Amino acid sequence: MSSSEFAVILAAGMGTRMQSAMAKVLHPICGRSLVGHVVAAARGAGLHPVIVLHHQASAVRENLGVENIDFVRQEIPRGTGDAVRAALEALPRQGTVIVMAGDAPLLRSETITALRAAHGDNAVTVLTARLNEPAAYGRLIRDAAGLPARIVEAREATPEQLAVNEINTGLYCFDIAWLRSVLPSLSAHDHKDEIYLTDTIEHAARIGRAGVCVHGDSVEVLGVNDRWDLAQARGIMQARIIEAHARGGVTFFEPRSTIVDVGVVLLPDCEIGPGVVLEGSTYVAGGARIRPHCVLVDTRVGEGVEVRSHTVSHGAVLESGVRFVGPMARLRPGTVLQRGARVGNFVEVKNATLAPGATVGHLAYVGDATVGENTNLGAGTITCNYDGFTKHRTEIGANVFVGSNTALVAPVTLGEGVIVGAGSVITRDVPADAVTLGRSAQVNKEGAASRFRSRKRQP
Ligand code: UD1
Ligand code: CA
Repeated sequence: MSSSEFAVILAAGMGTRMQSAMAKVLHPICGRSLVGHVVAAARGAGLHPVIVLHHQASAVRENLGVENIDFVRQEIPRGTGDAVRAALEALPRQGTVIVMAGDAPLLRSETITALRAAHGDNAVTVLTARLNEPAAYGRLIRDAAGLPARIVEAREATPEQLAVNEINTGLYCFDIAWLRSVLPSLSAHDHKDEIYLTDTIEHAARIGRAGVCVHGDSVEVLGVNDRWDLAQARGIMQARIIEAHARGGVTFFEPRSTIVDVGVVLLPDCEIGPGVVLEGSTYVAGGARIRPHCVLVDTRVGEGVEVRSHTVSHGAVLESGVRFVGPMARLRPGTVLQRGARVGNFVEVKNATLAPGATVGHLAYVGDATVGENTNLGAGTITCNYDGFTKHRTEIGANVFVGSNTALVAPVTLGEGVIVGAGSVITRDVPADAVTLGRSAQVNKEGAASRFRSRKRQP
């Protein structure tokens, strides 16, 4: 197949049955819109996508980006035949074009290639499948000789036609010159005043040029019309993604409870625990272990790192050799943990770098900060980075020890080797090698406890 061939992808419909404010084709499964999956399949087959838009056109365009893609507008969505008519302007005069529905996200590139190969000299070749429950799909009606005669929509079918289990998947290959000649002759159906692309089959059948390619995989052809279809498609796509990773050397403890987006990269020999959610551009290197119920979004986990259970991370980088994170840590955008760093339970880190060997063990907030090499922040250390108007930075040098329950009021700098007494509120910079205490002095009143008690006990 030459790279100059096109795939017209129909994405102008509203998708009324979704009952959604968002156009159907924009609904995501596994981190990509429905139409995004269709575009990926077309590209995988070496085709240049031409998208037919109407409803929420700019949102669809934004979702798909602008590179190596063309968009055409269907002025009024008047059915699939009308949608393809709108795309003709973007196609060459002759040659072959693939037409795909924007709501069939599971179709594989290989299937498109097989349909293209089966097309030969046909005017149109349609991909069909045999379904146990053909439901709302259009039925392929064959003549007495078994040759394709026409496609009938379920809502317009007779009871005998409804009993046919060979359905139209909505994937076609057309001779472009013939398509140009036949589209203007299609008439609208009374039912909805729509022009059906499926009517091209009957025209081609009359001249003996209608072809059918029966596909063996009835799951792959699923078209999403409502939320239940969407849920089914998501489950199938998810199983496919996880199986590919597992066969590529990734251990999954409980695949059915695991969510992995299509853009996630998992290297061989990483381990993914039960209930883990990996989204966006998350990357997990070999030897890394993601413990149960972690949620990692756009997060980079280096070699050998252990992310303990229930950790939630957005946009963090955990370099190779980080000792561990969590359980129940929260990492937010701009977090960079370098080799040997440790982040323990109930610690939140945002826009902060922990240098090699730095440790924040428990119950802390480290935001807009740099933490130097081998520095230890005690339990309850808080960077007070926000004064109600602006964010300020906290700079902490190497080999610093911050005692528990310390508030570092930014902007503030702690020099190398500083020791901060527990319970301090540090508002001014501390020079290197200083011990600093920012708390009121302790008062011990000897014997005062029993005096207090006996006073209280008197009537
Ligand atoms: C269509 C087929 C049906 C087939 C099924 C496969 C027709 C008449 N029917 O039915 O035989 O079994 O797909 O899934 O073609 N669209 C436009 N412009 C329009 C109308 C639709 O771009 O004016 C787009 C939609 O956004 C959608 C796709 O075309 O992505 C299919 O439309 P949809 O309304 O879902 O068709 P079905 O009723 O599923
Ligand atoms: Ca559909």
